[in-house]
Amino acid sequence: MRTQTIATHYADHLQVLQQRAAEALRRCQRDHLVIPSGTLHLRAFDDLDYPYAVNPQFKAWLPLTNAPGSWLGITPGQRPRLIFLQPHDYWHTVPREPDGYWAEQFDITIIRTPEDALAQLPPDASRCAILGEPQSALGEFTPDNPPAAVAYLEYQRAFKTPYEIAMMAAANRTAARGHRAAERAFRAGSSEFGIHLAYCQATGQDANDLPYGNIIALNQHAAILHYMTQDRLPPKPLHSFLIDAGADHGGYAADVTRTYSAHEDDFAALITAVDAAQQALAARVRPGLDYRQLHLDAHLALAGVLHEAGVLRVGAEEAVARGVSRAFFPHGLGHGIGLQVHDVAGFAASAEGGTIAKPDGHPFLRLTRTLQPGMTVTIEPGIYFIDMLLDELKAAGNADAVDWNRVDAFKPCGGIRIEDDVVCTDGAPINLTREAFAEA
Ligand code: GLY
Ligand code: MN
Repeated sequence: MRTQTIATHYADHLQVLQQRAAEALRRCQRDHLVIPSGTLHLRAFDDLDYPYAVNPQFKAWLPLTNAPGSWLGITPGQRPRLIFLQPHDYWHTVPREPDGYWAEQFDITIIRTPEDALAQLPPDASRCAILGEPQSALGEFTPDNPPAAVAYLEYQRAFKTPYEIAMMAAANRTAARGHRAAERAFRAGSSEFGIHLAYCQATGQDANDLPYGNIIALNQHAAILHYMTQDRLPPKPLHSFLIDAGADHGGYAADVTRTYSAHEDDFAALITAVDAAQQALAARVRPGLDYRQLHLDAHLALAGVLHEAGVLRVGAEEAVARGVSRAFFPHGLGHGIGLQVHDVAGFAASAEGGTIAKPDGHPFLRLTRTLQPGMTVTIEPGIYFIDMLLDELKAAGNADAVDWNRVDAFKPCGGIRIEDDVVCTDGAPINLTREAFAEA
């Protein structure tokens, strides 16, 4: 039934992409959009390849994430063409014959060697906008990524079609399954590595499938924002668990974070307070909201949480004004999400280019655009106890703002982050992650 929903929306999605492609071509004055899926990259001084990563411009058109050496040809007014590499190869798995809901929308030509694509591409490469990485060059078809076309396509990519939202809903359902299994493994006393394996098992995805490396952090490791080490032994005693782990569905990402306490204690109460603040922020995802304002309001909300918990001796407004909240919440509130976990064009001022600046003092914010229907963003506030930043806070003359005994009490737990993927609509937002957890 869900696959049907995805399939039902796919034709409309393609139509939107066709319109965007026509406009992008008009802007760069070319006739065809040509998009290589990308090739394998050899590791330096080695005969092995890095894991393949498909060109996002390619997977925007169809849910093919493992098809190196293939090409798309888009000409306004014509059916899209897929030139699909299916080599004669007994060393590796050969990509399956294209099938499924999307395949009937394409004119498909199977080729057996990468060079066979040349005879299938438009006759005059100079009339093509070729979107890809330099390594994909084939004969005259060297990716040139015309800036006017790329800026336009990337700006528009923020506005998700119903098909894309259905794909991300599916990715969130897979991630929620993994998160439930990971919590069970944590409660059973597993190591970080053991929890990671439980997550992979439950999602059916591993390092090469997942949209980003799992962050599985027990105790103080949660204070390292992108902790990816995965200890093989569980710590003793066990205090806390932060998991930031997503899932892929046909090239679309989920990005989900949860934090748990091992005990019914003050840290558990702090998690509950951050969760409430997170849900209040997520509920504000509405058209016309400047995401920068939401980020600044998150500082106020989290400073309030820290004040209530006795960590801050000063009120929320003073803590924000003095820059104290930045020591505890040192990253952005979130980012656009879609074909990429950190979606492109987060700072784009318009389809023509230009940049919307980040607020002063907030260098890690990844999204500065004003929300509009279809935009899908993460909302991921956090509170951390990070020695380096707390030392800087003291050095800046702000030691009086903090109750250091409370900080010491929370430090063994590392930190808290709660993250959902939220769709902006004309009305109330759709929280893809909460819906997925409710079903899991
Ligand atoms: N999930 C990792 C990040 O958003 O940076
Ligand atoms: Mn994120």
